Formats: sequence, structure tokens, C-alpha cells
Amino acid sequence: MPKYRNSLNVDPDDKDPAISRRSFLALMGVGACLIGATGVFNASFLGFLYPNAMKIPPSVFSIGRPDEVLSREGKVFSPLQKVYIETQAGKVRVQTAVCTHLGCTVNMVSTGYACPCHGSTYDQHGRNTGGPAPLPLVYFLVSLGASGELLVDKNKTTLDWNAAWFSVMT
Ligand code: FES
Repeated sequence: MPKYRNSLNVDPDDKDPAISRRSFLALMGVGACLIGATGVFNASFLGFLYPNAMKIPPSVFSIGRPDEVLSREGKVFSPLQKVYIETQAGKVRVQTAVCTHLGCTVNMVSTGYACPCHGSTYDQHGRNTGGPAPLPLVYFLVSLGASGELLVDKNKTTLDWNAAWFSVMT
């Protein structure tokens, strides 16, 4: 039973209380806990200053110079932007690879696309044909940027697979 009812167990009337080794270590432990808690708080506060939105890729992005893009005939998956880039006779179009069910990345299969997560299927144009996917895969509009690179704008979409082609030659 402590003699005095305070955390250091010292006489409150004593002008120069001696702190016991045990009390000193207890104080150090409390101090370390406070420093740790402050560090955790600061780390979570920094998360507010740098929100996830800063890690999201921009909605307008380059897929490269026209000659580079057109040199890859066929459909190519771009993992960074999660799109399929398709080229054909001087034209290019870009389609999302994000499943319209819960956002998994769809794989290209012989019949079109298939989602590995819950089994949604899409035809070669991205129309949803089976599984829980409620919507088709959209195409993003492609344009030639001032820098001479092909730009894809994820804010401009179409379901018209013919209108989605961008002719690089014109
Ligand atoms: S996320 Fe593709 S089927 Fe569920």
C-alpha cells in the first residue's frame, strides 16, 4: 500500500522529494507511451494531408506516340491504366479492362472478355453476356495531344465500338 496517494508516492509537502528508481522508470514508461501515441496520431493525420486521390492515375493519360502505338498490331493490355489498346490499319481504340460488377480486371478470352472474380463474361465488343456484370465495358475517346502523343480521356466514353476508333492518319 503506497504511503502517499499520488502517482510518484512522495510526500507532497516535501520541498525536495526524492524520486525512487521505480517511480522514475514508471514515469519513463508513461512518457514513452505518450510519445508512441503522438507518433500514431501524427501518422494518421498525415494520411489526411495526402489522401488516396493523389495516388489515383490521372483521367487523361498518354499511350505513346502514334508510330509506337501503331507498331503494335492487335489488342494489348496496359496494366497501369487497366485498358486494352487495340490497333488496326492506322486506327486505335481503347477499352476499359475494369469489370462493371465490382471492378476486377477482365482477361481477354477467345469469346471476348472474362472476369476472374465472379465469372462475368463480355463479348468481343465488351457487351456483358453473362454473370453479375450489369453494364458493358466502355471505350474511352482517343485524341492527338499537342505534344504529338495519343491521349486517352477516361471521362469521355462511348459504347459505339465503331465510333471509338481514332484514325491516326487523318
Ligand atoms: S468483379 Fe467481375 S464479375 Fe465480379
